[in-house]
Formats: sequence, C-alpha cells, structure tokens
Amino acid sequence: MNDTGKQEIKIKRVSSRKRSRDSLHTHLRKRSRDSLHTHLTPARRHLQQCLSSTMAEIQAVEYCSDSEDLFGDYDSLLEDSSLLAKLDDVEHNERQRDVQSDFTAPRPSCADVLTDSILDDLGDDLLEDLPPSLHQFQEQVHEGAKRSRLQRADKTSTPLRNTELQRNTEGNESKVRRSVADQLKRTMLCNAASPAAVSRSAALKEAVVSEEVSVAMRAMEAVCAESTDLGPFFGLPSKVKELMSKLRGIQSLYDWQETCLNLDCVQRRKNLIYSLPTSGGKTLVAEILVLRELLCRKKDCLFILPYISLVQEKVRGLASFGLELDFMVEEYAGTKGRFPPVKRRNKRSLYIATIEKAHSLVNSLIETGRIDDLGLVVVDELHMLGDGSRGAVIEMTLAKVLYMTKATQIIGMSATLGNIRDLQTFLKAENYTNDFRPVQLREYVKLQDTIYEVDPKDEECFRFSRLLNFKYSSSLQKLDPDHIIALVTEVIPTHSCLLFCPTKKNCENVAAMICRHLKQDFLQHREAEKAVLLRELKDSGSGSVCPVLRRTVPYGLAYHHSGLTSEERKLVEEAYSNGVLCLLTCTSTLAAGINLPARRVILRSPYVATDFLKRSQYKQMVGRAGRAGIDTVGESILILQDKDRLTAKTLVCAPMENCFSNLMHDDGKGLRSLILSLVGLNITTSLDQLRDFLCGTLLYVQRRQLCVEKSLTEELRQCVHFLKDKLLITADGQTLHVTKLGKATYKGSVDLTYSNVLYKDLSKGLEGLLLNSYLHLVYLVTPYDMGSQCKPDWMLFFRQFTLLSAAEQKMSAAIGVSESFVARKAAGQTVRKSVNMEVVSRMYLALVLFSLLKETNLWNVSDRFQLSRGFIQSLLSSSSAFCCCVLHFTEELEEFWPFRALLTELTRRLSYCVTSELIPLMEVAGVMESRAKQLFHAGYKSLTHLANADPAALCRTIENLQQKQANQIVASAKMLLNEKAAALQEEVDELLTLPADLPTARTL
Ligand SMILES: Nc1ncnc2c1ncn2[C@@H]1O[C@H](COP(=O)(O)OP(=O)(O)OP(=O)(O)O)[C@@H](O)[C@H]1O
Ligand SMILES: [Mg+2]
Repeated sequence: MNDTGKQEIKIKRVSSRKRSRDSLHTHLRKRSRDSLHTHLTPARRHLQQCLSSTMAEIQAVEYCSDSEDLFGDYDSLLEDSSLLAKLDDVEHNERQRDVQSDFTAPRPSCADVLTDSILDDLGDDLLEDLPPSLHQFQEQVHEGAKRSRLQRADKTSTPLRNTELQRNTEGNESKVRRSVADQLKRTMLCNAASPAAVSRSAALKEAVVSEEVSVAMRAMEAVCAESTDLGPFFGLPSKVKELMSKLRGIQSLYDWQETCLNLDCVQRRKNLIYSLPTSGGKTLVAEILVLRELLCRKKDCLFILPYISLVQEKVRGLASFGLELDFMVEEYAGTKGRFPPVKRRNKRSLYIATIEKAHSLVNSLIETGRIDDLGLVVVDELHMLGDGSRGAVIEMTLAKVLYMTKATQIIGMSATLGNIRDLQTFLKAENYTNDFRPVQLREYVKLQDTIYEVDPKDEECFRFSRLLNFKYSSSLQKLDPDHIIALVTEVIPTHSCLLFCPTKKNCENVAAMICRHLKQDFLQHREAEKAVLLRELKDSGSGSVCPVLRRTVPYGLAYHHSGLTSEERKLVEEAYSNGVLCLLTCTSTLAAGINLPARRVILRSPYVATDFLKRSQYKQMVGRAGRAGIDTVGESILILQDKDRLTAKTLVCAPMENCFSNLMHDDGKGLRSLILSLVGLNITTSLDQLRDFLCGTLLYVQRRQLCVEKSLTEELRQCVHFLKDKLLITADGQTLHVTKLGKATYKGSVDLTYSNVLYKDLSKGLEGLLLNSYLHLVYLVTPYDMGSQCKPDWMLFFRQFTLLSAAEQKMSAAIGVSESFVARKAAGQTVRKSVNMEVVSRMYLALVLFSLLKETNLWNVSDRFQLSRGFIQSLLSSSSAFCCCVLHFTEELEEFWPFRALLTELTRRLSYCVTSELIPLMEVAGVMESRAKQLFHAGYKSLTHLANADPAALCRTIENLQQKQANQIVASAKMLLNEKAAALQEEVDELLTLPADLPTARTL
C-alpha cells in the first residue's frame, strides 16, 4: 500500500520531466512493477486495488496539470483527508481481517503473509523504490518494534507483574506501529522538507528533481561501496582469489557461479535459494558471499551444515582463510561452541554449526540483543527442512532470524528441492536454478545382463545401452547373481567406485564376497599404503582391527557405515579420497555426508533397508559419480529386479519430492518448543503475537497442503495449554511468561517430554549424589531416548553389576535398579515388583558408558557388552551432547549449582573419552585419538605445540600424514589458539573498561 503511494508519488515527480528521464525511471521501477504484479497476494492486491483507485484520482489530476507545483501537490495530498481516510480505512480493514481471520481459514494470501505490521508484509521488492530516508525509517520502525518487545520484559525468567510498565510498553508499541497513513504523511513531509523554498517554476522543479536523483544515486553508491565492490574478486581483495587457487586449486569460477554472484538480488543482499545438481559447486558461491560479509560488511556469519563431520571438515577447510584474512572460524558442533558467542571487538566471526547448535546460537544472539551482528546465515542442504525434528529446528531458526531482523541475509542451497516456491515464500527469497554439472552424469539401470540408459524423455524411460560382457561360472553366478563383481571390475582399481547397499550387514558381506573373487593383482596395487592404513586402523582400535576390513583392505576395498567408529570412518574416507582404496561398499548415509565422489556409483538395489528409495535419496547417491577435474564422465548403475522395474521408472524420472514443514512432526513437538523459546526470549508474549510469528513460518505457507486438522489458532492454544500444564510457562492476563523450568528447558535444548523427569532426577540426585565414582553422574546424562534402542543382556548386566562397588550398587538401588532385581532377571525368574524399565535400560547404558570412561577402549567395551562399536560410539556422542544440554539446564536453576562444575568436567571427558593428556590435541578439528597419540609421542603435547609446528616437519615425523592434512591441522590449531587467546583478551578488556554508568561525584 505504502509502495503504491510511493510509486505514484514518483510518477508525479517524473511527470514534469518524464520524457527526459524515462529511461532512468524505467530502469529503477521495472522490478518493482514486475514484482508487484507477480508476487502480490490477494490480500495485497485487494489493498492495492483500493489504493489504485484512490491514487488514480490523484494521478488523473496530476497528469492534467503538468505545470502544477510538485510540492503543492504533496501539500494538497497531505491535506487530502479523503485519501488519508481511505488509507486508514484500508489499513484498518486489513488489520481487522488479519487479526480476526483464523489461520486456517482461507486467507486471501497464499504467496505471502501479513505479519506484525502491514508494512512488514510489503516485501523488499516493493520497497525498492522508496527513497533512502524512508528505507531507513522503515527499518527503524521495524527494528524498534522488535526491540521494544524484547526489552520490555525483564531478561530473566522473573515474570513481569508490573502492569504499569506493561501499559507503557503497549503504548510505546502502538506508537511504534504507526499507521501506514501516518508513515506516508511523515515520508511525504520528509521528501518535501523544504517546499516553501522551492519556486513553482519548471526550472526549479527540474533542479530539485535532479538533486534528489543525484542524492539517491550517491546513497546507492555509498551502500554498494559499503556492501560489495571493495576489490577485484567479486568485491573481495585479490588475496582471496590467490587463496582459492592455493588452498583449493580453484583457478576460475564456473560461469553459473559468476552469474549467480553477479545477480542483482545477490548484490543487494536479498535472501536467496539456489539449486543445482550435486557437485555443481554450490559451496564456493556461499563461501564467497560469507567472505564478503565478513570482510566488506564486517558482520558475523553463520554456516549451517547437517552433520558434525561436515562442520569439522568445513572448519578445517576455512581455518587458513581465517588466518590469512583475519577473521575467526568457530566450531559449533557436538559439545563445542560458547553461548552467547564471545563478542569480539576487532574481528568478525564465522560460526560453522550443526543444525541444533545453530538454533541455540541464534537464540543466544537474540537474548543478548546481538542478532543484528549476524550479517548472513547460510543453510547447506536446505531440503533438510523436510527432515523430521531436525527440519523443525532449521525452520525455527530461520523463522526467528526472519522475524527479528531485516539486516540478516539468508542463503539456502540444495540439489534436491522440489517445491522451491514454498521455501521462497517462507524465506522471502529469490531463486536461482541451473542444471550445470562440471562432470556429466550418465544414469543407467541394470536388468539381468542388460544395461539401459535412463532417458526421462524416452517413453519407456530406459533405452538399451549394452549387454554386460562377463563370463561367470555357475557357482559364481549363484554367489553373485547381480553381477556386482563384473560391474565393479570394469572400473577398479584404476578408477574409484562406490557401491550403495541396503543394509549395514549387506555392506560387509558384499565387500567380503567381492574380494574373495578378485585377482591377486589387486593386492599389489598401492600395497605399501594399504599396509599403512591397516596399521592405522589397528592403532585406532588399540590393537584390534575389524576382521572384515583386515581381509578387504589389502584388495583396496572397505565397507563404510555407522557401525564403524568415527576414527575408522575417517581413515577409510581419507584412504578412499587418496585412491589407496578403490571401492567402498556403503549405506545411504555416505551420500549425505562427506564429499566422496567416484567414477562409478552402483546401487545394489532400490531399497534402504525395506523401504523403497526416495527420489532425493537416489539423486544424492548417484550424484556422487564423477570427480570434478579427474573424471570426464561419471556414471551410475541401479541394479533392478524385474518386480521393481515399474516403480524404478518413477524413481529415476519423477520430479524431486517436495519438502514440507515439520513443526507439527511428532505430535507438534516442534511447535511446542518453538512457542516455549519465543516466550522465553520475549520475542512474543501473547497469543496474538504468537499468531503473528507463526505467519512467518513454512508451516503457515503450507498450512493447506499439510491439512492441519485443527486450525493453527487451535493448535497454538493447545500448545500453550500443554506448556502451562508442564509448568514451563505461566499466563498473567494476556501476557505469557516463561518459568524458570521453562527457561532451563529451552536453554538446554531439552526435549519437552523429558524436562520434568530431568528436573526430578537431578533433584533426587542432589539428595545423595555419589561423588567417588562417575556412575551416578553418567546415569544422569544418559539420553532418555536411547534406552529403547538397546535391550539389556541380563547375564551381562548382572556380571557388570557385581563388579560395582558397594556405594555404586547402593546408588543403583536408590534409583530403582537393585541387585536382587538384576539377579532375578539374569536367572530368568519373573519379578513381581513393578520396576520402571526405562530406568533399568538407562542404567544399563550408563554401565556401558561408565566402562568406557574407565578404560577408554571402545573395542573392549564393545566386546564386553556385545554391542557394535558404532552403537557405542553414537551412545558416547549422544551422551556428551546431552551432558552439555543438562549443564545448560542446571545453569538456569539456582538449586542445581553443585552440578555445574561437575558436568563441565564430565562433558569434557565424555566428548573425548581419552586419557586427559590427549584432550588438548583432540580439541583441534579433525584430530582423532590415534593421530593425537602419534602427535603426543612425537613431542607435540599441547595446542601451542601444534599451533607453532612446521607442517613439513609434521609430515616427516608423523606416519602417513599428507602435506594438506598437516597444513590443515596446524591452521586449525592456530585458529583455536587465537580464538582462546582472543576470548581471554576480551575478558581482560571488559574487566579493565570503565563502566559507562559509573556514579560520579555529581550523580552521588
Ligand atoms: N570453479 C570451480 N573450479 C574447479 N572446481 C570447483 C569449482 N567450484 C567448485 N569446485 C569443486 O567441485 C567440487 C564439488 O563442489 P561442491 O562440494 O560445492 O558441490 P555441491 O554443489 O555442493 O554438491 P552437493 O550437492 O553434492 O553437496 C568440490 O571439490 C569443489 O572444490
Ligand atoms: Mg554441497
């Protein structure tokens, strides 16, 4: 509405001299007009129609009287009460509709939403034509409204009872939410600041308009200079280009990367979603934008990645950039990351975070009023929005950023997005799509002994390509009916191959089966390096090597799935990347993890366990084929049985699946925790504000497709009711407040289902905390939801129980797991007394963790408890993450003060689970236990040793350490050391800074 008015005002100005300036104005207005027509929601259209008719009258007048005074018109417009009355009416009606209409009632808007103020709803496109003064004003209004909401309540969890204060702030807020008409008045007044001084002559008008245009141009130039073109490499110093070449081997950008970076919307820092096929080179574009934000705009950035391993890889990869270009690279994954982040005076930070940590980080920045420091948020693999509870967390994070600040740009990328429109609406983002792939990908399917090429344009979808050329004996035919050996030996050992299998067990079996039938020649290929790999695997297992790997590695084969320890996985990945291993049999998890391309990708079957593959899973898997710069072509082969032929056609040819909001996933768990944190952070404190907020979520955009059974208002009410019921929030009239327990819950990212149980367990713990052993503390931080994943082996349980000290047994009995109970179960007797089996299972897992902490040898513990080492590893990492959560939980609750120091140390122990002298080395991203041991034995005993090491010397002394890895280790160590030192320095500076509000003699 405002824009329409503004546009018309422009037309008025142009009118007196429109012929001479036509081109300039066409250029300036084109986008807005387009966007007005294409992006207007019915609500806005309605609004615009009302205004258009209003404005048409003015326009008619204006065009009739070309010689009339411009500012006279403005004045008369201001005086035109009928126009302002209409504006008021239109705005009022829209507000009423917004407030009254039920969320699920078909609102006139589908592409966009009306939020806090109608002004908010006018997308940035529509604001482009506003003069800079109004832009600034607009932003001030918006930010003011948000801030006033944040600041008006006490920042602690103490409920706000002062109604006076409330009334005042409400008054302020209503002032802040000035009506559109008011703003229009003010703007016009601003623009016509000196009407009296301007003569009515055409010459003066010309002069004034010229002046205004040149002021606007200067302002635009200033903004551009500030935000972008500071250097020759996409606005960055040429040093960045040199580093890209030196550290990444990238000499020039792909055409699409250049086009994308030069997009008008990118230049203007608008939100952006870009989608390209796998291996398209999406990361580089995001990284250049990140660097621009850090170096040119001097703002912090957040890079969100889905897995800890990816975060660590990115930290390692960008640490050198940080050192050379003078910014911090901070890891937020697992138990790493400070909340709120250290405020750095002279340096900008790049936070590289997992989904969960990114959410906590954004929360803490909002809480401390520092969200505006965040200039850019990048979400890699944006399709993860559709991935269950993790998707819900991404949605919450982005919705909060969108709601809290207009200063933060959001960029999302993905290779597998079906419904980009929905996401665009949610993120108010532009879209860039291209089907570029540096290495062409040829997709094939195999049916019996025939290979067909996938051709979506072909009616049959599959086009005959060739017959498989192999000679199988009848016994081999029985062993390998799918001809996997024939398929892999066409490429290995010269080229690499990935073989995706439906289950973990299948990965191991297939790897073993293949190497039984490989020629002895394979043994000679890179023999020495394979021997080193085996030694390293042995070291990582403290002397033990997986028997399957021991057999397959000499042939250049390995399996890769979550049953391996993270150290084994890393060793296997590195060996595969370096070509020491030429074939990995793996599960679908590899496709989404680290970038491990292959010449040929084979899908053993179109299933993951018993589920038929999803289109996006298939795309991610086959997308690993083709190494940029190495292969000229990549190929994938999907092995099919006749029965799956038809379904497979849909799989390979159908459009990408859509990605849907997960706030309602798992019975609305996401929505509940979102509401709790919104109230806790004082972002929203009433039902109305909550509804406003929800209008900015993906859930709202997709509310009809998701067919939310109840209306969103109803869902909202129920969630609030649930939170009150759980004593996480309270209501004081219309105002919602978070309780201390609620605050502890969202700050600790504790699942709402368990927050009460956790509170009780910790309280009970306080009554008799066992401190001469870790067992009790470990039990308290064993994740509640892991118990169901492992059934106790009663005999083992009993044996372990008997090894506990008397005090430990007593503690176990106190929580409900007594020796007699375990003994009876082990003896196969029935137990009449009712026992909480969840507690029993947690206690069993606590025993596993306890053993692990005591002897730090995962293999022994895996043997003792007959659990896979992969499971134990994931139990350990989940427990360390939960320990960190419990620590944050206790920090908010005064009564739990004794836990803080204890849990800080326990988090550290669980995170690394090694002897304490190795911990400082393992803090460096990507340094794992056996590498840490090697370094320690070579004399690098501390972080300072590593940070000052010479990478070349490291390579010489540490077996099988490549130069690139050594560089990355030293760079990461330097970065970590800098970060720690800078944090201490900040603390020193803060301590020595004179407080601004120090009472002076006069104030006393
Ligand atoms: N301009 C370039 N020149 C040479 N290599 C490049 C260029 N841009 C990217 N690459 C390389 O291409 C490879 C794939 O890039 P990247 O990981 O960004 O792909 P992606 O689009 O994110 O794929 P995915 O969807 O699989 O994650 C990387 O090894 C990267 O270094
Ligand atoms: Mg990528």
